[in-house]
Amino acid sequence: MLKMSVRATVVAVSLMFLLDFCASTENIPRKWAAFSANITSLSRYNVSDVDVKAEILCSILATKDGKANLFCFGPKSCVFGHVYLPDVEGEQTPGYNCYYSEVCLRDNETVHEGEKIPDTFCPNLNLTCTKRGLVNLANGVPPLTSCTPPFVQHPFGCMYFNQTHMTLCDAKAYCQSLGAQVASPTTHDKYLALMTYLNANYGSSSQGMFWLGVYYINGNWSYESNGRWPGPDGQYEWLYNQPNYGNGRDCVYTSYQEGSSFFALVNYYCDYGLAVICHAWNLEI
Ligand SMILES: *[C@@H]1O[C@H](CO)[C@@H](O)[C@H](O)[C@H]1NC(C)=O
Ligand SMILES: *[C@@H]1O[C@H](CO)[C@@H](O)[C@H](O)[C@H]1NC(C)=O
Ligand SMILES: *[C@@H]1O[C@H](CO)[C@@H](O)[C@H](O)[C@H]1NC(C)=O
Ligand SMILES: *[C@@H]1O[C@H](CO)[C@@H](O)[C@H](O)[C@H]1NC(C)=O
Ligand SMILES: *[C@@H]1O[C@H](CO)[C@@H](O)[C@H](O)[C@H]1NC(C)=O
Ligand SMILES: *[C@@H]1O[C@H](CO)[C@@H](O)[C@H](O)[C@H]1NC(C)=O
Repeated sequence: MLKMSVRATVVAVSLMFLLDFCASTENIPRKWAAFSANITSLSRYNVSDVDVKAEILCSILATKDGKANLFCFGPKSCVFGHVYLPDVEGEQTPGYNCYYSEVCLRDNETVHEGEKIPDTFCPNLNLTCTKRGLVNLANGVPPLTSCTPPFVQHPFGCMYFNQTHMTLCDAKAYCQSLGAQVASPTTHDKYLALMTYLNANYGSSSQGMFWLGVYYINGNWSYESNGRWPGPDGQYEWLYNQPNYGNGRDCVYTSYQEGSSFFALVNYYCDYGLAVICHAWNLEI
């Protein structure tokens, strides 16, 4: 495991975070629940490992990280980061206490694990908060437990690309019926890997226009899975002149930038017909 001895800095920085944390929790409260994890094989690629003396400081660092869904405190270190929970779930590494984040972030609100809320855009569907974020989960359709056809394992997740054009709600219901959900990448890196794949496989073809699980809710854009923000207008994950504001253009799909064939996000009416990427969320985080 990676070791970083930066105690003095971390204590000072932690105190700054503590103040910041108290302010920021008013907006996005995080809850951490005990989780049994074998962290012996985690590397610095997965987690940060810093030397702090109190569990509360460790939880603050993990909360501050924003993406971290796991933190573990031992007598000599604080390990935190964003990991694929099923990979680490197991017999607790001796000397550590581990916790995972059990809330789903939805724009400026939080939903607790196990809680079911109505789907904002599709009246017949619900969203359920799970360890892997907010997902459309149907009674009687178990989430996928292995990546089998028509799903294919990609570096950015186990996905199924279906070219049949559907409205957003039909796409959601279709993916839900397969034990999956409309793809909603949980990190910017996974978003980039998906766009690279679209670029390589669809070039500047209109066949690369797929619904993604990103919506305009309460005056802001967020990924459904974990509330991630796609960035300022026209930047980061948006195509240069997107989003367009106007009543009902609340849903998002992938499209290429004219001329450069670079894929990014575009918003449009949810009842438009587009291809869909179903994502086996249960196999991802
Ligand atoms: C840790 O990172 C490696 C390399 O990126 C990855 O293959 C592995 O799945 C990650 N493990 C966890 C538990 O996230
Ligand atoms: C933790 O995982 C490692 C390999 O990743 C394994 O060798 C070890 O036995 C596991 N420890 C426990 C307590 O399960
Ligand atoms: C959504 O939740 C409500 C209330 O629990 C339930 O009556 C309804 O059947 C659910 N719909 C779906 C599609 O799961
Ligand atoms: C795509 O989805 C539709 C349902 O909307 C389904 O009928 C079809 O079999 C799926 N597969 C392909 C390859 O189009
Ligand atoms: C979220 O934002 C909307 C619009 O700004 C507001 O009406 C709502 O009260 C906010 N919810 C919370 C929990 O802050
Ligand atoms: C949307 O949310 C992001 C991240 O929370 C925030 O930085 C940004 O200012 C928000 N934009 C609007 C228009 O509220």
